[in-house]
Amino acid sequence: MKKQLIAAAVAAAITLPAAAQQSVEVLHWWTAGGEAAALNVLKGNLEKQGVKWNDMPVAGGGGEAAMTAVRARVTSGNPPTAVQMLGFDIQDWGKQGVVADMNEIAAKGDWDKTVPLALQKFSKHNGKWIAAPVNIHSTNWIWANKDVLAKAGVTAEPKSFDEFIAAAEKVQKAGFVAIAHGGQPWQEATVFDSVVLSTGGIDYYKKAFIDLDPKALNSPTTEKVFARMGQIRKLVDKDFSGRDWNVASGMVISGKAGFQIMGDWAKGEFVNAKKVPGKDFACYRFPGTQGNVAFNTDQFVMFKLADANKAAAQQKLAAAIMEPGFQSAFNVVKGSAPARTDVSDAAFDDCGKKAIKDVAEASKAGTLVGSIAHGHAVPASIKNAFYDVITRHFNGQIDDKKAVAELVSAAKN
Ligand code: GAL
Repeated sequence: MKKQLIAAAVAAAITLPAAAQQSVEVLHWWTAGGEAAALNVLKGNLEKQGVKWNDMPVAGGGGEAAMTAVRARVTSGNPPTAVQMLGFDIQDWGKQGVVADMNEIAAKGDWDKTVPLALQKFSKHNGKWIAAPVNIHSTNWIWANKDVLAKAGVTAEPKSFDEFIAAAEKVQKAGFVAIAHGGQPWQEATVFDSVVLSTGGIDYYKKAFIDLDPKALNSPTTEKVFARMGQIRKLVDKDFSGRDWNVASGMVISGKAGFQIMGDWAKGEFVNAKKVPGKDFACYRFPGTQGNVAFNTDQFVMFKLADANKAAAQQKLAAAIMEPGFQSAFNVVKGSAPARTDVSDAAFDDCGKKAIKDVAEASKAGTLVGSIAHGHAVPASIKNAFYDVITRHFNGQIDDKKAVAELVSAAKN
């Protein structure tokens, strides 16, 4: 018996290294309940293929902290296998020449034909696929607790900014928090995306925040945008400072608050809490922005790896991310629309179906625009300078006029 055991142990010791397990290390900021649930879909998919998942979470909505962590890892010559990334950050890494070429796998998976050009602009560098887009999120959404609205006497969906403010005031008067908000720069900027679109319309959005046209930026419209941010500020509760976005979603889910202005990752929280759209909560485009979509897309950038075994696992990860069945399963949980246009909307709930339809229509109409807040309108340096102005204004440190002037100078630098 003892002899047999020793023999088995020796055999195991001999065979194990030969079958070295493939693994991926994935750096991301998906730590909220809904986000983690979505990530588990990807993890499960890889593990079924025999690829071990090493999780590298860096908490912090919007990914600022995660980007700092990536820089440290790459600088020290030890990049992770794949990194969740947004818009212009992807292009910045492309320029550094440290990312892998995924053209072969992209050709096999028909990425060129199925991923909208607005996304490809960020996923490809010098004609090479350097990132695999897993979704299309958008920021111009409102999430509402149906029961709270009914109790406050809000019976119809607000269709304009003023109607929204009137509805939120009713909610506040009824004793609820009107707008659940987390006081962090990226969250204020997320609200700003919607207010810009609603106040100035699509042409103003493009001119001022994508082309950075000084005239469009330095205008009465921008001043009105800040005035409206001030109106929203009056409708958040006193404890908003520093609150995480998913905690704010939780306030709407639990019936403490009426509304949240947030990207559709918020839906992941509602779904994770077993809430049903149309019954427990409502999703609508931020009033005055229907027809326009301010998008951001989470993409996985693959870094160049010397180890062949790791590089092979990396290719498996990229292929898995872009597989249509996976894109459906993942985005149903995440709250986003698939990054591929050939994925059916059958498995999605009403908010998800609306997201997919809105993206398709906006893409056709030329009204699918990159989110300012989530790195798809301007590069990170300008985005961060915008954050700073928007947040200081939200906290009453500068008035509307000063905020406009500072935004104009932030765009110049
Ligand atoms: C966004 C990202 C989403 C979601 C959100 C909050 O930038 O695209 O996937 O995670 O941050 O963390």
